[in-house]
Amino acid sequence: MKLWQKCDRRRRVFCIAGALVMLWGVTQGFAWLIAPSEQELRAEGRELFIHEWAPNDPLSGEGDGLGPVFNANSCVACHAQGGVGGAGENKHNVRAFSVLPNRNDSNLYGGVVHANATAEHLLETDEQVQRQFPIIPGGVTVIGNCQVRLEDFNPVEFEEINTPALFGAGLIDGISDWSIRKNAWGQSLTALGKEFQGDFDATMGKVRVLPDGRVGKFGWKAQFATVEEFVATACAVEVGLSNSYRRQDQPGKFKADENAEYDMTSRQFDSLTTFCLTLERPELIMPRDSREYSAIVRGRQVFSEIGCAECHTPDLGGVKGLYSDLCLHNISDPDHNGYVREPEVPMPSNVPGLADWKTPPLWGVADSAPYLHDGSSPTLEDAIEKHGGDAKHTREKYLKSISVTDRGNLIAFLKALRAPSNGNAIEQAVED
Ligand code: HEC
Ligand code: HEC
Repeated sequence: MKLWQKCDRRRRVFCIAGALVMLWGVTQGFAWLIAPSEQELRAEGRELFIHEWAPNDPLSGEGDGLGPVFNANSCVACHAQGGVGGAGENKHNVRAFSVLPNRNDSNLYGGVVHANATAEHLLETDEQVQRQFPIIPGGVTVIGNCQVRLEDFNPVEFEEINTPALFGAGLIDGISDWSIRKNAWGQSLTALGKEFQGDFDATMGKVRVLPDGRVGKFGWKAQFATVEEFVATACAVEVGLSNSYRRQDQPGKFKADENAEYDMTSRQFDSLTTFCLTLERPELIMPRDSREYSAIVRGRQVFSEIGCAECHTPDLGGVKGLYSDLCLHNISDPDHNGYVREPEVPMPSNVPGLADWKTPPLWGVADSAPYLHDGSSPTLEDAIEKHGGDAKHTREKYLKSISVTDRGNLIAFLKALRAPSNGNAIEQAVED
């Protein structure tokens, strides 16, 4: 006490500051000591990923557990091919819908018609969506001095969405916005160069810029910037688990139920996210047989030579063997996978066109059939043959300019891009 009184004001301030710093250090050290390790979170996250949720599940605290509307009762029900976290079969496709811009409302809306519900009377139907967004009747209107006849317009468009694999998602999460933009500029410059030489078959990807300025990387429309944000929506929409980022959907309303209690603690959410972020990356598996080995090496060359690598960029932002530019392209082919219906009024400028889809990374493609956003291609050959629009020139080369052997080599290369395994993988054995 005497010492304290003897100290001048400056010294006292120093003492208090010193004590506060020490206290902060101790609490930080303590927090660090009790914080779960990545390994712990990952193990807990894996359990949650494969857990079969039930209504009022004991794991969901105050929340109502599974549902009330949901698509499947676990993440792994859909993400299973080639291991936990893999791609999904068509029977687990998600039924999405878009409400197209029209004369009454020029915005674009979307939602999901859930496949399941915890009670039969909560089951959602296409008809409910249609009732909520009814057909806009046509009629005669006057524009200027002309009478114009308007047709009836149905704003609702349904779409099947196939489940992609999550292997290597953490690496994609780490790719910087700048790398994606830089790569897209490179595509534009190459395209410009080609046009000067009279070649108009150029590839230019559209970077998906989200309303807050970040670049979208996840989802078939590149609609999310991070794995964490996607996991939040997947929990809420696919399994009906409300979390602090996104509440579960309200049955038949096609929007989040803002009053729902949380089904997940932040620890559960963090561990599930950590699990998705730390899934192993896919691998290029090289066979021992020297003929098969050469076929794959040649196939990889053909892939670049005929222009596949223009969009399926082999390396992006430091991630090797990704085979995607993470940009949007319209490769629709009216004969096959065309999304041919146009909205009644132009699409808002900040959203992707209806036929625009993100170039899917081809790593792991051998273990992720069926292919394309709607799972409409059962085989790799079929997926390539459905490349129209901006990719038509490469399809034509694949079908007409290369030998049957090289076509086989190209497929052999794609079939060597496998889901991660502990088998005889020789990662990136082919030198660039
Ligand atoms: C009913 C099937 C289904 C279930 C169940 C499901 N998903 Fe998915 N998942 C999908 C589909 C379909 C997509 C693609 C959606 C899109 O692009 O709009 C997807 C995409 C994802 C993505 C983004 C992948 C990428 O690279 O774009 C993540 C992350 C993800 N899911 C995590 C989860 C987690 C975590 C769970 C469990 C809480 C889960 N999913 C449950 C079908 C499912
Ligand atoms: C102009 C860009 C572009 C070019 C060039 C291109 N692709 Fe694609 N590719 C895409 C897009 C975009 C999709 C997704 C389309 C969809 O889902 O409707 C896709 C899908 C695929 C798929 C399905 C993958 C999956 O997970 O569903 C395969 C396989 C594929 N491409 C292989 C190739 C091959 C081989 C070539 C060269 C012959 C090629 N692509 C050229 C943009 C391109």
